[in-house]
Formats: sequence, C-alpha cells, structure tokens
Amino acid sequence: MEVVAICGSPRESGNTATLVEALLGGAREAGAETKRFDPAKMHIADCTAGDECLVSADAACRIDDDMQHIYAGLRRADAWVIGTPVYHAHVTGTLKRVIDRLYAFYTTEGGGWRLGLPGRRRGATVVVQADAERETPRRVAEYLEGILRAYNADPMGCIAESGLAGPGEAAANPKLLARARALGRELASS
Ligand SMILES: Cc1cc2nc3c(=O)[nH]c(=O)nc-3n(C[C@H](O)[C@H](O)[C@H](O)COP(=O)(O)O)c2cc1C
Repeated sequence: MEVVAICGSPRESGNTATLVEALLGGAREAGAETKRFDPAKMHIADCTAGDECLVSADAACRIDDDMQHIYAGLRRADAWVIGTPVYHAHVTGTLKRVIDRLYAFYTTEGGGWRLGLPGRRRGATVVVQADAERETPRRVAEYLEGILRAYNADPMGCIAESGLAGPGEAAANPKLLARARALGRELASS
C-alpha cells in the first residue's frame, strides 16, 4: 500500500503540512509507504489546454516540469491525500494548478470522456483555516472530495479544521494530531 499526499501550502512545516504528516504517520503505522509532494517548492506550470493529453489513455502531459513526478506518484498510489489551507475561501492557487494538470489522466480515446487511470484508490483530505467559522473548510473539503471521486479515489474521511492561524498551531493540538493519525491508519488498513 502506498499513500501519496499533495500538500498545497507554501509553509513547509505549517498547519496543513503538520496534519498531512500526522496522517501519513498513521498510514505508516498501518504498514503503508508514504510520499509527500510540496508543489510550492516545485516547478509546476499552468495547464495550457493543449489537449494532446486527451488523445489516448497513454498520452502524457507534454509540459516537461515537476508535475511529471506527481503524475508518476499518483499513478502508482493506492491512496491519494490532498491538503490545503483555505485561501480566500478556497484552495491555494498552488494546489489548483496541480488539480488542473490532473486533467492529463483523462482521455477522449474511443469517443466520450473517460479516466485513463486504471483501478480505484482511496482518498482523504486536510483543510485548515484561521477563521473560527466552520462551514468554509468543510465546503472546501467537499470540493476536494469531488476531485478525488473524479479520479476514482473513494474519500475515506477529512480533517477540516478552523481557528488555526500561526504555522505551529496544529502541532500544538494533540487531539487534532491524533485524529489525523487515526484517519491515516484507516486509510491504509485493509
Ligand atoms: C493568501 C492567504 C489567504 C487566506 N485566506 C483565508 C481565508 O479566506 N479564511 C481564513 O480563515 N483564513 C485564511 N488564511 C489563513 C490561513 O488559512 C491559515 O493561516 C492557515 O492555518 C494556513 O495554513 P498553513 O500553515 O498550512 O499554510 C489565508 C492566508 C493567506 C496567506
């Protein structure tokens, strides 16, 4: 079992990264191998809508940048984890750029749209925000669960947390960390 996480925060050890790491730690406790991508530290261009990727199920995105590492990681993963802080009531631009590039997993080969990615996988999400209201992180997590479903990743749960502002606040919340670890264990358990 391999779990691959995409962490959409530019803060390497911020709240999203801390909770994603706790989740991955739980997955490792359950025997999984894990890999985390931090796209803010990678060179990832915007989708240019060239559509060459759609020609066949095997056609890859022609943009030769660090997204190729993420494609390879996601392709072989048994579970996808997507994490983001709330930025202006939505995901970060960094994460949205990665999500747009996932389009390359689709194909119109044979007519109509279908996913060129074989098999099903599991998924989980992590969303944090500074404000105390609780609706926005849940709504953003629902959005990310829709993205997971679009790639045949069945959402197993989410950590959607409000009231986390400074980068060390999740790390100082043992109950929250324990919830993230438990979700990771569940994600990696048969
Ligand atoms: C550009 C920007 C936009 C933000 N927008 C919101 C927002 O709409 N609502 C909110 O509650 N917090 C907002 N925040 C605060 C972050 O969501 C919060 O600090 C979060 O804990 C950061 O997570 P991180 O440590 O993983 O980066 C914003 C922060 C930045 C830098």
